Amino acid sequence: MLNDMTKTSNTAIIVAAGSGSRLASEIPKQYLKLKGVEILAYSVRSFLAHPEIDEVIIVTSANYLEHASNQYPECKVVVGGETRQDSVFNGLQACSPHTHIVLVHDAARPLIPSRVIDLCLSSLEKHDGVAPALKPADSMIQLEDSGFRNLQRDNLRMIQTPQCFHIGILRTAHASGKIDTDEMGLVKQSNPQASLGFIEGAPETLKVTKQIDLEIIEKYLDAADN
Ligand code: CTP
Ligand code: MG
Repeated sequence: MLNDMTKTSNTAIIVAAGSGSRLASEIPKQYLKLKGVEILAYSVRSFLAHPEIDEVIIVTSANYLEHASNQYPECKVVVGGETRQDSVFNGLQACSPHTHIVLVHDAARPLIPSRVIDLCLSSLEKHDGVAPALKPADSMIQLEDSGFRNLQRDNLRMIQTPQCFHIGILRTAHASGKIDTDEMGLVKQSNPQASLGFIEGAPETLKVTKQIDLEIIEKYLDAADN
């Protein structure tokens, strides 16, 4: 336990306060089960099992506060906000005073290899912020009024979570009044000089967005069982 005041800790914030409107399921996607286990439980377990993670905070909707508190007694559980950014903000407010590094993760991404957590933490020795990224496999275009333009695929990346920061820089970004869909974007807007790095993400860290994603993740789980 962190009784030593000089000790710093690493906190995972799992944002789970969304409603999953694109999946159109009555139960928010992070509370659906895959192979009998709640989607949220997969990432909670990965962070709790990682030797360098000291604290796990779950940010949920008010409707699921009691459920999540009962289901995950090893975690702090707090209520989220209207947007993902508001939910991350509430998670930041709940961090231990010892927190030095925060890892913000989407509950809708159940599969995080421990290698990704390891790499994020080691990369923070030289960066202010780090996130997993994947190269797109398909050709990429940008739609324009008059048609479309081909983009250089080699210069594009798909950004996943956990997005990891020295806590001060993320707090400052949240206080800046800027708005973005993820932490890397928000920190870059608030502090263009910040050193932001990327590590190789994992294809299985895909985000449950539509029904097909549940089936793909189930296949990964089947493969891991065999
Ligand atoms: N999230 C959150 N608080 C919000 C909105 C989203 O904590 N107000 C979380 C979701 O629970 C999810 C993650 O942010 O784990 C990524 O968001 P997304 O995939 O967009 O989930 P939803 O917003 O729930 O889905 P949709 O956009 O289809 O409604
Ligand atoms: Mg959303």
